[in-house]
Formats: sequence, C-alpha cells, structure tokens
Amino acid sequence: MSRRVGLWLIGAHGGVATSVAIGLAALQRQLTDSCGLVSELPIFEDLNLIDWHNMVVGGHDIRQTDSLTEATKLASGMAAAIQPGLVDQCTDFLNELDQRIKPGILLNCGTTIEQLSHEARVQQVNSGRHAVQLIQDDLRAFADDQQCDSVVVINLASTEPIPDELQVPENWSDAERLLDQPDCPLPASTIYAIAALELGFGYVNFTPSLGSNLPALDQLAVERKTVHAGCDGKTGETFLKSVLAPAFARRNLQIMSWVGHNIFGNMDGQVLQDPINKKTKVDSKDHLLGQMLGYHPQSHISIEYIRSLGDWKTAWDHIHFKGFLGTPMVLQFTWQGCDSILAAPLVLDLCRFTEMAQQRGDVGMLVFLSSFFKSPMGTRENDFIEQFQLLTDWATRMSM
Ligand SMILES: NC(=O)c1ccc[n+]([C@@H]2O[C@H](COP(=O)([O-])OP(=O)(O)OC[C@H]3O[C@@H](n4cnc5c(N)ncnc54)[C@H](O)[C@@H]3O)[C@@H](O)[C@H]2O)c1
Repeated sequence: MSRRVGLWLIGAHGGVATSVAIGLAALQRQLTDSCGLVSELPIFEDLNLIDWHNMVVGGHDIRQTDSLTEATKLASGMAAAIQPGLVDQCTDFLNELDQRIKPGILLNCGTTIEQLSHEARVQQVNSGRHAVQLIQDDLRAFADDQQCDSVVVINLASTEPIPDELQVPENWSDAERLLDQPDCPLPASTIYAIAALELGFGYVNFTPSLGSNLPALDQLAVERKTVHAGCDGKTGETFLKSVLAPAFARRNLQIMSWVGHNIFGNMDGQVLQDPINKKTKVDSKDHLLGQMLGYHPQSHISIEYIRSLGDWKTAWDHIHFKGFLGTPMVLQFTWQGCDSILAAPLVLDLCRFTEMAQQRGDVGMLVFLSSFFKSPMGTRENDFIEQFQLLTDWATRMSM
C-alpha cells in the first residue's frame, strides 16, 4: 500500500513555502515538468520515493494572511516569480491549504520578526514547554486528520538572530530543563525542532537559524529514532561558490580575495536588513571558503534589500586570483536567480529524501543531504561535487 506523507512548513505563508505549495499542486495536476527537482534525476529512479500525489502540506505562520494572497503577490508586478495562470489553476488547492495553516509561536525571534506578526496569528505561550505542547497538538492533529504515515517538518521561517551566549548542555535530559525555565532562552526554530523530534517526526532546517543544530537535539533525534538535517538551503551564489572554489583549489590557483554583493527585494531581504538577523546569514554564506581552500582569502559579503527587485536576487561576485609566475587574474560572475523558485523544488526533494531515510531506519543527522545546505550539519565537507557523491552513494545503498 502506498505511504502518505505530511509536509509541515514553518513559515507556511512565506515566499518559499507558497512556491512549494504551488509547486506540489502543479506536480500533482501535471501542470509542470520535473525541471529543478533533484529527486527526479534518473539516478534516484529506483528509490521508490514518495509519489507527489501522496504528499499533503500544512504548517505554521505568524502573519495574518492567506495562501492565495501570497501566491498572487509572487505572480504579479515586474518582479513576478510565477505565471499568474498557474495560480488560477491552483486556487482551490491554496484555499484548502489555509485550513491546515495554524498560528505559530514567537520566542526569542528578535524584534524585526516580531513586527511581522499580527496578534491573532500567534499562540500565546507561558513557557518553552508550553510552546512545544501547542506545536505538538497541531502536528498530531494534522497527522491524524490527514492519515499520514509520517510527517517531515521543514523550517522556512524568517532568519532569526544568532542567540547571544546561549549555553545548552550537550545531553538532551539536561537541555530539556531549559524548556521549564521562566525565561527559556531557546529560539522559536529550536522549539519547533524539539516539538517535531519528540514526536518522532523528521526535521529539516532550510534556514540559517539555530533549529536542531545542537548536540542535545541530535541526541533527542537518535533517542526518538528520527532524523534531522540542515542548515540554510544552498540555492544560488553559495551553490556556485561550492562548485567554483574546489575547481580553483584543484588547479592550484590561489584565490586572493572573493567579494560577493547580493541585492534582492523580498520579505526575507527585508528581515535581513536588521544587522542582527543579517549576521546569521552572512556567517552562513562566508564560512565555507576557508574550509574548501585550506586557507582564508580576504572575503566580503554584502546583502542589501532593494524593494523593486522582489524575489529576484542578483549576486555579483568578484574573485581575484593568482596563477603561475604570480600573475593576477579575475573571474567575475553575475547570478540572477529567482529565490523562491530555486528553493521550492529543493524543499520538496528534502521532504522525499528525509522521509525515505527515516522509513529505511536512518537515525540522527542526515549528512548525505549536505549538498542541499550552506552550513551542513555533521560534516565540514562543502565541495558540492563531493557532497553530491554522498547523496548518490546513499541512494545506491538504499536501492540494493
Ligand atoms: N529563497 C532561498 O533561496 C533561500 C535559500 C536559503 C535559505 N532561505 C531561508 O528560508 C527562509 C524563508 O525564505 P522566504 O524567502 O520564504 O522568506 P519569507 O520572509 O518570504 O517567509 C518567511 C515566513 O516565515 C514566517 N515566520 C517568521 N517567524 C515565524 C515563526 N516564529 N513561526 C512561524 N512562522 C514564522 C513569516 O511570517 C513569513 O511568512 C528564510 O530564513 C531564508 O533565509 C531561503
């Protein structure tokens, strides 16, 4: 009998989540082909990944809006990301989805994210433990109502600030006590992760927020025989960086400096205007160069919010490098990508691979998913080709 899988999105009304919903509707209705979907590559054919028709979406958000309004925004104006006709063909799907989107929680998210919310869409919580219980009530109800065999929770919420001086014991039973402290220091992304993992659901962090990136939460995942992965989807400029930097290294060309300027105008960009939220993202984009090259060239990353660009991100990268006889040379590239459209298929892929891994008995961190992330958990491997090999090796083992 075919399995039914619930995909629960934290940040369900955001640009990426709305594109995931439209994407899934379009796949179920055969309104699109498989372009952009890694899991549809012929090498994964024998895996028996979950069929698009057997996936159902739900989620949490903190804003008072609806999926059709958000989809219409993505399909209108000069910076449109999707065709308006596609939204028209998926309107019933989006309206139905709204019944499964529940008010989220705000805990240690910083003022910029708090300002996005509307009181009516936020659950009031007394403690970290209470927040976990409220989220779990929604997750259980979703799994029961939709008769899901399993649920994968994917964090697509706005980037949180890095928590200041957060001390979390490595052991889950000690860390768990933080939930009962009057001022629970854990950010919302970690609370959602705890809620999912405690129920034995898979958890994936597509954002650079803390999420499950703590030894205590890895231990929780192992105890509950479930899986987790993250952090921060690798979709555009950083994806190219992780392809190009190893190529320079293999030709023994020395990179002297790498400068990347990013401009875009969606709500993610608006949140990243706040320097404390921006720091989380810049750190996630910047760390991998040294790890791939074995030395640290001067690097600079800027991220600026330019409203008129909407979801279209332009990244201009300037790579100054040195060749034989010390001769300096330059590579420049300009990437003009539509952020949500790059991210959405990867979210659908991550749901399929995570569900399969859990079904086949994997537990803990899914290191084989590292090619999907800017800051992969459980490995320092950032070379895209090497990371992709981990995915294909896993698929080969699973197909045996
Ligand atoms: N688009 C990409 O290519 C890409 C790549 C890597 C990472 N990301 C990350 O994915 C996330 C989503 O990106 P986006 O463009 O959809 O952003 P977005 O701003 O459009 O959407 C974020 C959504 O999260 C909601 N939200 C914020 N805090 C929440 C909370 N505590 N609980 C529930 N909902 C909450 C917001 O209301 C909003 O609807 C961001 O963190 C972004 O940095 C995106």
